Amino acid sequence: MEELYREGKVRAIGVSNFQPDRLIDLIVHNEVAPAVNQIETHPFHQQISLHSFLKENNVQIESWGPFAEGKNNIFHNEILGSIADSHNKTIAQVILRWLTQRGVVAIPKSVRKERMEENFDIFDFQLSSEEMETIKTLDTNTSSFFDHRDPAMVKWLGERKLDQ
Ligand SMILES: NC(=O)c1ccc[n+]([C@@H]2O[C@H](COP(=O)([O-])OP(=O)(O)OC[C@H]3O[C@@H](n4cnc5c(N)ncnc54)[C@H](OP(=O)(O)O)[C@@H]3O)[C@@H](O)[C@H]2O)c1
Repeated sequence: MEELYREGKVRAIGVSNFQPDRLIDLIVHNEVAPAVNQIETHPFHQQISLHSFLKENNVQIESWGPFAEGKNNIFHNEILGSIADSHNKTIAQVILRWLTQRGVVAIPKSVRKERMEENFDIFDFQLSSEEMETIKTLDTNTSSFFDHRDPAMVKWLGERKLDQ
């Protein structure tokens, strides 16, 4: 990847699901630091300490699963719902606005055109610092999916990739 980067064939190098130990190892033993780390980040898993670590190392945080893929009934969450109502926005828009205000790049997924448009329409309102603090209370600091540091899970994921 570094060769391709130096040759101008790739514009940036990114990684995904790298925790601080793995990321710093990569940075220390290579010349080009990753530009971005794509990691599970949503209201139930806010990645506050990882985000600080990434900032210190000039690596942009990018959220995968910004809606936790709908888990924990996120689109009916009362706290998010009342914030959304007060701005005349949807819960999806509040989540994306919250991520954006934190400096987190988000890549929401939808197969529906109207939802894609809804998900882009987050630049005409602002969450107050009180609202940002309220959303903070939803953090469980735990993955809604699985642990990328569990060797059995890493093995399972790796073997799945080899199958594809
Ligand atoms: N690097 C990794 O390990 C990793 C892991 C998982 C995912 N990803 C990537 O992360 C991105 C995010 O996708 P994701 O599917 O994981 O999670 P997500 O964006 O959190 O959730 C997608 C779900 O939310 C629904 N949705 C989207 N917009 C909505 C809206 N405005 N209102 C209500 N529901 C809405 C979608 O349904 P509809 O489609 O029916 O609208 C879909 O069921 C994808 O690009 C994916 O490839 C990366």
